[in-house]
Amino acid sequence: MTEAIEVRAAVYRGDDGDRLTVDTLTLAPPQHGEVRVSVRAAGVCGSDRHVLDGEWQVPLPAVMGHEAAGVVDAVGAGVRGLTVGDHVVIAWHQACQRCGECTGGKPWACTRAKSNDSLLPDGTTRWSDVDGSTAYPYLATGAMAESIVVPEFAAIKIDERVPFDVASLIGCSVGTGYGAVANNARVVAGESAVVVGAGGVGLSIISALRLAGANPIVAVDVSEAKLAEAVRAGATHTVLSAPDLADQVATLTDGGADVAFEAIGRVQTMQQLPGLIRPGGRAVFVGLPPEGQTVEIDGLLLAYEGKTIIGSNYGGLVPARDFPRVAGAYLSGALPLDELISARVGLDEVNEAFDAMRRGERTRSVIVFDTGADAAASAAA
Ligand code: APR
Ligand code: ZN
Repeated sequence: MTEAIEVRAAVYRGDDGDRLTVDTLTLAPPQHGEVRVSVRAAGVCGSDRHVLDGEWQVPLPAVMGHEAAGVVDAVGAGVRGLTVGDHVVIAWHQACQRCGECTGGKPWACTRAKSNDSLLPDGTTRWSDVDGSTAYPYLATGAMAESIVVPEFAAIKIDERVPFDVASLIGCSVGTGYGAVANNARVVAGESAVVVGAGGVGLSIISALRLAGANPIVAVDVSEAKLAEAVRAGATHTVLSAPDLADQVATLTDGGADVAFEAIGRVQTMQQLPGLIRPGGRAVFVGLPPEGQTVEIDGLLLAYEGKTIIGSNYGGLVPARDFPRVAGAYLSGALPLDELISARVGLDEVNEAFDAMRRGERTRSVIVFDTGADAAASAAA
């Protein structure tokens, strides 16, 4: 019988600005259909920052993080597809698995998912705060913790040869970027593309565009350093954001790109997007702006030029199908992901990692968890 365990976790309480505290909370054992995962790596993602900076409201206190990989270390009753020791990537959108959207291959469109409210499918959480009250795992994941409990279907088994830090990114930024290209925009070889914002998500889009054979691939950012990284990820051209952005893109793409992606979450850049594509082109909104903001678009031009605007939620991912695909592309060398990681930090450095993101310094910090098991394995090797 699996017992509750004490777990160190990065908690956002909302009473000290944007700061997190690392506290020891109690994690109840996995219930029916759930697994406990020993987290080995958790990415520091822009969506967590939206919460910490007060742009999105979530139940508090929140165990933050939603981009993780680890090893299954306990299974609840009725779990059939996973066993202790499996390497898994966590999916943060936990769809109901039963409705028309879920069974029709669009789990991201499931409206019954409770994960957006930081609740497991049964409407509860497995976390107790230091005072015994309920704590809430952000996106029902709460990945910045030594261990987590998630539904079996949200832990996707992947090839053990994928390192944990890379694997963690597949669960959010890399998966989102890959899915935006492969599932939402359905980019085919030879199409021209522009990506506005070359952060963690933008670079993932760029590497997925290279995988899809897009050409040219134009990266746009306000940071020269990010543009240099964009070239390493596969951008063929770069543009430092400027008022004449649309003209510069038109020159590079012979009149406008076939497809454009916004990967920042800024209303101003979202508004620019239709102007970067050619008639008949697709503009894909990947970045998530603060709640309640409105994007203005010229309706006449949009209709007249037959342009399509596509909203991309979690890359239209079907995690059980797409995570192993992304892992396979990484292992084959076709999708280089190691270079997306700019720093590996300990859980206690979580605030500094978010500060580095706010300063625009790092592409992706990944929190790595040093477990005795890994140390023993490397000592034995
Ligand atoms: N024009 C061009 N680039 C810009 C601009 C601008 N006006 N402002 C910021 N940027 C660049 C930053 O320099 C950075 O490289 O956008 C990038 C944003 O990247 P990150 O902060 O790393 O954010 P990321 O994790 O990639 O997430 C981007 O996608 O999933 C969503 O919630 C997420 O809304 C967020 C978005
Ligand atoms: Zn994320």
